[in-house]
Amino acid sequence: MALSKQPYKGTRDFFPKDKRQRDFIEEVMATTAESFGYEPYDGPLLEEVELYLAKSGEELINEQIYSFMDRGDRKVAIRPEMTPTVARMVAQIHREVAKPIRWYAFPNFMRYERPQKGRLREFWQFNCDIFGAPGRTGEIEILQVAIELFERFGANSSQFEILINDRKIVDTVFKDLLLCNDEQTHKLYKIVDKAKKVAPDALQKMVNDTGITESAQKLFFQYINISSLDEIVKFLKSNNKHEVADEFAQFVSEAKLAGLTEYLNFDASIVRGLDYYTGIVFEMFDKHPENRRALCGGGAYHNLLQIFNEKPLPGVGFGLGDVTLTDFLNVHNLMPNFEIPLNDVLVTFQDPNGFQSAMKVARELRKKDFKVITMLEETKMKKVFELADKKGCKNVVLIGTDEVATGKIQVKNTEKRDQKDFNLNDIESIINFLK
Ligand code: HAM
Repeated sequence: MALSKQPYKGTRDFFPKDKRQRDFIEEVMATTAESFGYEPYDGPLLEEVELYLAKSGEELINEQIYSFMDRGDRKVAIRPEMTPTVARMVAQIHREVAKPIRWYAFPNFMRYERPQKGRLREFWQFNCDIFGAPGRTGEIEILQVAIELFERFGANSSQFEILINDRKIVDTVFKDLLLCNDEQTHKLYKIVDKAKKVAPDALQKMVNDTGITESAQKLFFQYINISSLDEIVKFLKSNNKHEVADEFAQFVSEAKLAGLTEYLNFDASIVRGLDYYTGIVFEMFDKHPENRRALCGGGAYHNLLQIFNEKPLPGVGFGLGDVTLTDFLNVHNLMPNFEIPLNDVLVTFQDPNGFQSAMKVARELRKKDFKVITMLEETKMKKVFELADKKGCKNVVLIGTDEVATGKIQVKNTEKRDQKDFNLNDIESIINFLK
């Protein structure tokens, strides 16, 4: 039986144009992160499964993780996310290094998902995390990085928004105001997560089924409908939850000062499925009607280092997937065209004896960092320019019989429609022409 040419379900082959696109995305991510002083890091593809069992949350563990026994009977998993790995790495070195620690990475992950728009089994995810920042400054900075990144891709506040909540608020509302026990709290987390995707009566039924009282239900629906930063603060104060209200109000005022509120909105349905978050949680959403989906997700996690028996070190970060980002850039016409590669010079010869000269000029130009493609056989004149176009070369070198006889080459700039003959050894003049 013939083997399938298709990649494994939910994974992608990156043909050159796709790889150019991914490299472009990565480049913008790296330059943005580095403009804030974030340093690149990476970790292993496999981790012991326990690392994820500790705090990655039910859905990831029960439904999505790729895990297996290795030959030494260790249960390992292909990384489904980076946060446990980065926490493990930071746990090794945080005592010796100056804080805050600012790191970024663009690793690939595997999650066993039903492939659909925006969701695959293998995807790349930009991770940007800060550890040990004082007060709420880490949260503010991480949101700034996320916004700056989208701005560098050419997007603005009419195209995306960040919906935010705080796990402390969610816990306060569920446990202190609705008086939920642990099981009910757990159920409500899941219900809230689905709140926007289900019809009102289905939502009502799910809430009924938790067994919380009628007055708690009333308060729950009041809470779930809040959609502004100021409103949630008012809601908490009117219910005598001054401490949490003041803490969040402080975050809001810092976010306002940092100019972030143009992008930020409160959303009670943002709780995030990962167990490690302890402070703000957020998701960035595409505002385009055809692509109303989460582009990235993140939050503050202050206790993750404790799973390694380390003292708490506040961490905040986000993960942005390449699949959702690509959809976003496409739907807003922000993705450059990567059909054609970018090269500088196509070196051709029309006389069979031109090969040596072609090789020589190409070698010299590459030494000066030009991207040079040499044809490996004679190329007819009428084909040269078509080929140059396909290979993204703005310049062509022609070496015909006359040129071979006189030790010259002809260089043409197809854009400027300029051309000149050069002595093969006069590389400096050739370079000046190409520049
Ligand atoms: P997450 O919400 O699981 O968070 O994923 C963040 C982003 O990764 C999503 O918004 C989406 O862009 C992308 N993503 C997730 N699953 C898939 C998939 N199956 N296919 C394509 N893209 C996907 C985390 O992973 C956290 N560890 C992020 C984080 C970093 N929090 C703090 N630091």
